[in-house]
Amino acid sequence: MSKYTLGLCTMGNSSAALFENGNLIAAVEEERLTRIKNDGAFPKAAIKEVLSIANIHVSDVHHICVYWDRWRLSGRVVATLKKLINKPSNFFILYRRVADLFLKKSSTDINEGTWGDLFKLKKIINENFGKFTGKISFIDHHLSHQLYAEAMRDWGEYVSLSYDGGGEEFSTVLSVMKDGKRNILSRHKWPNSLGHFYSTFTGFLGFKMLEGEYKMMGLAPYGNPKYKKLILEKILLLKHSGQYELNTKICDYHAALRGKFSDDLTFLFGAPRENEEKPSENHIDIAASVQAAFEDALTHILLPATSSYPSIKNLVVSGGCALNVTANGKLLSNEMFNNIIIPPAPHDAGCAIGACLSVLDDVNYASVRSPYLGRAFSDKEIMKAIEGGGLKITEPLGNDELIFRTAGLLANKKIIGWFQGGSEFGPRALGNRSYLADPRDDKIRDQINQKIKKRELFRPFAPSVTVEASRDFFTISQDSPFMNIVSEVKGNSVPAITHIDNTARVHTVSKESNPLYHKLITEFGRITGVPVLLNTSFNIQEPIVYSPEDAIQTFIKSGVDALVIGSYVIERKHILEDNTF
Ligand SMILES: [Fe+2]
Repeated sequence: MSKYTLGLCTMGNSSAALFENGNLIAAVEEERLTRIKNDGAFPKAAIKEVLSIANIHVSDVHHICVYWDRWRLSGRVVATLKKLINKPSNFFILYRRVADLFLKKSSTDINEGTWGDLFKLKKIINENFGKFTGKISFIDHHLSHQLYAEAMRDWGEYVSLSYDGGGEEFSTVLSVMKDGKRNILSRHKWPNSLGHFYSTFTGFLGFKMLEGEYKMMGLAPYGNPKYKKLILEKILLLKHSGQYELNTKICDYHAALRGKFSDDLTFLFGAPRENEEKPSENHIDIAASVQAAFEDALTHILLPATSSYPSIKNLVVSGGCALNVTANGKLLSNEMFNNIIIPPAPHDAGCAIGACLSVLDDVNYASVRSPYLGRAFSDKEIMKAIEGGGLKITEPLGNDELIFRTAGLLANKKIIGWFQGGSEFGPRALGNRSYLADPRDDKIRDQINQKIKKRELFRPFAPSVTVEASRDFFTISQDSPFMNIVSEVKGNSVPAITHIDNTARVHTVSKESNPLYHKLITEFGRITGVPVLLNTSFNIQEPIVYSPEDAIQTFIKSGVDALVIGSYVIERKHILEDNTF
């Protein structure tokens, strides 16, 4: 009889994951189903979906593993009290923050579950899914991050870093694995937090916190890091033994969540940017400086590992800060480590999987390493959605014909919506829910930016490249299967995916990881001589599409030339006038 283990992330980027014995059979983020970006609410839709994918009920689940050790409140409480003593005027901000953590309704515009939910988990499960009689375990937050990320590697010895906004008491944990033993080298107490440092400036620069961090990262290469020294002297203080201190009097994350910034911050950097305001030269220099200081701090916090274990050249990185792909690329190019692994979901969503890994034996690691963990839809389901969406049904094509037609359209400068197999787990489109285009044509970038993505012009697009050709186009010294390492671009044959600083966020695609997508890139390469595609997430300012209905609705709303969905190639001429969108 199968044993089912359900993993939950309940108040970050909420998600659910389901193991059948040691096999990971489904993992879904709440946002993909509710269509609310970065949905942090209790993951009711995601739980329902993973149970449905496995065709089981909650009564079949033996064990629920949650990504947070709920009783370890003391660190946060003491730190909050210290903040209050330092700055009594913060009373209302901190009062509301505590209320947000424990009560139902958030007073910010961020949709979040609460810490209080963890104390009534069984009740929530019973009320929403039926009687659950199994065991519930609450797992250390950073250990959940690390276990999921570490599942991606085959190395025996490695350094493992988890860093984010904050776990129970710590925002950073650095470990080394040697001789089968985990040795914790350093931990950094919250509210000293590189995640909060980066997010506060994200808000200061007028981007939505906990969402727009990658926008600030995209802006950084345009600027001069003239404030880096100032930041490292006054705000992010690098201390002995790889420790750091965040000056929360100046850089106050919780005040920033409510759009408030300290007078000191404004005195040092000028006025914060308004949401729709064009970034000024000063704003761009701030972005460059924050990114540069962040990279210095990252090198600094790794010191206990690099100085005590200089021969260990393998690094696993997890936590929300691991989404900083520029910093990941710098770590690789400065040769501190020879090999780096970052999982497809290094942010909190991935902890739903990591929490389960802490209790499971005999794990099938191949199942954990796949990012394609959402529901895969049959051609029958896709055909029904095409018909229901008001599109003309076309002839289904076999794989060879489908690839030949799609590669031909791409080589003819058409922009394609590509929907195949199970959806990706994590924030990156890795070739199953993507817009694809020809990277050789710089003009295509403007077309996608203005007509489809409706996003800021300074943000770069990423390339997918076959593993066989990756070293021909990029300087990267290893594979990047989850699109989370930035590398320099060689030559000038792919301008549409080359950022202002001559880098790109590379996605290397192997035949084993995604055979159909690999075949498509290979065929495009056969036609054009360039086995690289521009790959950006299939969405328009909302979460990446999940279902065929989402894909069809987004295709109709967008200006893309064709939708390749399952075995069907649908062009714009196939949109019927009475379509439902
Ligand atoms: Fe986290």
